[in-house]
Amino acid sequence: MKIAINTGGGDAPGLNAAIRAATKAALKRGWEVVGILNGYGSMYSDQPFVNLTHERVHGITMQGGTILGAANRGNPFEMPVKQADGTYKAVDRSDELIERFKEHGIDALIAIGGDGSMRIAHRLSQKGIDVVGVPKTIDNDITGCEITLGFDTACMIATEAIDRISTTAESHQRVMIVEVMGRYAGWIALHSGLAASADVVLIPEIPFSMDSITKKIVEIQSYGREHMIVVAAEGATEKGRDHFVKGKQIGQAEQLGGLAEYLEKGIAERTGKETRSVVLGHQQRGGSPSTADRLISLRFGTEAVRLLEKGVKNHLVVMQQNELRQIPLSEVADSYKTVPLNSDTIMTARDLGKCLGD
Ligand code: F6P
Repeated sequence: MKIAINTGGGDAPGLNAAIRAATKAALKRGWEVVGILNGYGSMYSDQPFVNLTHERVHGITMQGGTILGAANRGNPFEMPVKQADGTYKAVDRSDELIERFKEHGIDALIAIGGDGSMRIAHRLSQKGIDVVGVPKTIDNDITGCEITLGFDTACMIATEAIDRISTTAESHQRVMIVEVMGRYAGWIALHSGLAASADVVLIPEIPFSMDSITKKIVEIQSYGREHMIVVAAEGATEKGRDHFVKGKQIGQAEQLGGLAEYLEKGIAERTGKETRSVVLGHQQRGGSPSTADRLISLRFGTEAVRLLEKGVKNHLVVMQQNELRQIPLSEVADSYKTVPLNSDTIMTARDLGKCLGD
């Protein structure tokens, strides 16, 4: 048995632990393991793989990033190909990729990735590749999976950053806005906003109004406090408006951004208070994984190999009620998981008096 491991999309803390776990579990069974370098895009180059051995994966559990490299421009169904006029066009090169898998004698693929990677994995499985998926994303937005690898560390980093921003907000009696990642789901914003005692938490699931935010600020001022923290998910939207988007490249997801600045201006104008905004950005994806992320990554990685051994294919390993289960890739390919509005975490936020923008 020869398997390939791919780390798709953006990186996340815990990826290396998952690579190590899958590699060691496979080697234990006498299988051969290769890692795909820098995403599927390298499959069209002369050097698509690296051999994964016990030595190569030694000591990487605590390392951030991915030893295999990651690329957002690696969708084989929409590969950006440069045209004669210098522009790029999306071309379906999936058949070539499948040929390369055959040439190299690869029997199965472990696709570690987020919703985009699972969509690709599902399409590859429909073309005859045996795939098992491992759910990775700081956004925690994969359908059917309660916790994805990378989420815990991202929340920990965001919480610590908001704590630090709170002390400077207090010194200067400012409103500080902290924009966190999460794409179209508010998991990071809600969890870190609650943990770091933010006053306002804006998530994509609940469109906000500037009136509601202003009302909260005025209410806090009436208690005699002049510093406030607003945590905004990058994908949060104002009622009746669309997401704030910075740009979109061929073969890539749209790049969100711009909300923090918009809020800074709007809040300053409406309240007359000194207001500053911070975009936490990629530090939420960087550095060493937390204990929880190391553990979940090791569990996911080894489970993927156990599933392949049992002949289970075209499924995603998921965590449900702290148990490892698997769901068909077809069920996750075209959806993503948002924060349920009736969840106890939302109720907790409301009972704590947080403004959720509505
Ligand atoms: O999906 C993970 C994520 O970090 C999102 O939270 C964010 O919107 C996006 O990736 C950023 O992508 P990039 O690294 O391509 O800017």
